[in-house]
This record gives sequence, C-alpha cells and structure tokens, in this order.
Amino acid sequence: MSEQPSSLHISVMPDEVVEYLALKPGGVYIDGTLGAGGHSERIAISLGEGGSVISLDRDAGAVRKAKERFQGTCVKPYQANYRDILTVLEQLNIETVDGMLLDLGLSSDQLADRERGFSFDADGLLDLRFDTTEGRPAWQWLEFLSEERIAQVIFEYGEERYSRRIARAIVKTRKKNQKPYVAAEFANLVRECVPQPPGKARIDAATRTFQALRIFVNDELGALGEFLKSAPEKLKPNGRLVILSFHSLEDRIVKNAMRECEILNVVTKKPIESSEEEMERNPRARSAKLRCAERK
Ligand SMILES: C[S@@+](CC[C@H](N)C(=O)[O-])C[C@H]1O[C@@H](n2cnc3c(N)ncnc32)[C@H](O)[C@@H]1O
Repeated sequence: MSEQPSSLHISVMPDEVVEYLALKPGGVYIDGTLGAGGHSERIAISLGEGGSVISLDRDAGAVRKAKERFQGTCVKPYQANYRDILTVLEQLNIETVDGMLLDLGLSSDQLADRERGFSFDADGLLDLRFDTTEGRPAWQWLEFLSEERIAQVIFEYGEERYSRRIARAIVKTRKKNQKPYVAAEFANLVRECVPQPPGKARIDAATRTFQALRIFVNDELGALGEFLKSAPEKLKPNGRLVILSFHSLEDRIVKNAMRECEILNVVTKKPIESSEEEMERNPRARSAKLRCAERK
C-alpha cells in the first residue's frame, strides 16, 4: 500500500476497531466511511491474504485518492452513501459480510479544505456537503428556509441554546446583503449571537451551529438510522457491527438501534472511549464513543 502523505486525518481508536471487529482471516468487510483510508488499511493489514475491504465514501475526492493509494490491494473504494448499503451489496453481488464499520462525521482533510466551508476560517462558501454533486449547499438552504425552521435545525442538531437569536440574525442579514455566506463570515455572525463566558472558551462559539447545519445538509442522522435498519441482516452469524460516534445525538441512535435490533447482541454494554494517551495525540478522539454489536 502506498503512503498517503497528503492526508491530515488520524484514525480514531484503530486498535480498538480491529479488536472489536474480531476480524476473520479471509473475511469480507465493509468500511462505510473510508475518509483518508486509515481504518480500511488497518483492517486490510490484519486480514491478510484473501480477505477484502469494501470502502465507501460520499466524497468523490476521498474515493479518488484511495483508489490510487489502494491500487492492487484488497481495499476496494466506491463512491456511495452507506445508507444505500443494500443496493451497494446487491450491485457487487455480495450476499453477506463478516463485519461493518462506520466512523461518523467528517475527516480532518475535509475540515482543512478551505473551499468547502467546513472550518470557521474557510474563505469558501458555506457548503458543508460530503458529496458536492448532490443536494444543496448550506448557504442555499439558508436563503430560503424560514426563521423558525433554521432555529429548529440549529437547536435540534446543534443543541444550541441561542438558536433563535442566530436564526433571527441570519434572516436579517440575508435580506440586507443578498450574497451567499462565506464560511468565515458566517462564523462571525454566529459568534456575535452567542455570549461567551469569561475566560478561555473550550470550543468556538460557532461549533454547534456548524455541526447542526452539516448534519442537516447531509441528512446524517437519517442516513445512520437507515443504515442501522438495513445493515444487520447483511451480517453473517457472529459478524460484527462497529460504530464510532462523536456526539450524543449519533450515539443515542446507535445505542438504541443496537439494543432494539432482534438479530443483534450488544457486545459493548457501555461505549468504549479513547485512552488518555490517544486523546492527547489526537484531539478528535476526545469525544469518540465506540459501540459494537454482533449478529446472532
Ligand atoms: C471521520 S471520516 C472517516 C475517516 C476514516 N475512518 C479514516 O480512518 O481515515 C468520515 C468520512 O465519512 C464520509 N461520510 C459521511 N457520511 C457518509 C455517508 N452517509 N456515506 C458514506 N460516507 C459518508 C465523509 O465524507 C468522511 O470522509
């Protein structure tokens, strides 16, 4: 496998992912969130000869890079939404698999891409889509959604208590300047609406609003819910489902779906968290929760 020096993304809990997938030599695995390919690579190395990793991502750029990097290996990258897992497996003529992984959210490479508006200081438009060929960018949604709906999205998906104030400011400025939002300007608008406690803030005041709009634009919770409904039946007996989530909304969906699914046994009664050492090395790991369930 060739090196990928251009990637900034550090995979979260790689050892734990491999451990909980309980890899079977020669098995077939789905990595539903390929990203920079770190987890896919770890799985492939641990699988050894004869196994395969089908790696999906909505992001065409991530898939293009991975195709180059994993050429001639058992990692097969495809551009697809993991919510369409049944269609993907049908197209590949795969009946059942030995395990599946989701590592939710966005990659550090997407965050660093200044054109896509994921980061608060980006000079690109506020796009926030994983797949830039599908759906509408966030700035377009913000041009026509009602003030009430914007407030609801920011409150529900960002758990932001100043959601109404932010929605009011958005509607006021869109009437005035008629220009699509640049991410950095939008972050400033949000910051002006969110009072910060004195002292050094733990997170940027725009964090919750950006998260909310990203979840909304990509229908992240809808995709996760659909995947959790359809994926278990495609696991072989004892096949494992491992999911890494990064905020309470996702984790709640994963926890409940694993508990309520009649064909799954929950393996992790409590979510697994990163070690202190990993959290220090990789700030993304701080909020990560790993849950695992096994097909009966
Ligand atoms: C946290 S990153 C994955 C990083 C990867 N595990 C690694 O080790 O490099 C999440 C990736 O999932 C992708 N993604 C998000 N939602 C998706 C979906 N519904 N279907 C497929 N890919 C998705 C994003 O585009 C992003 O590249």
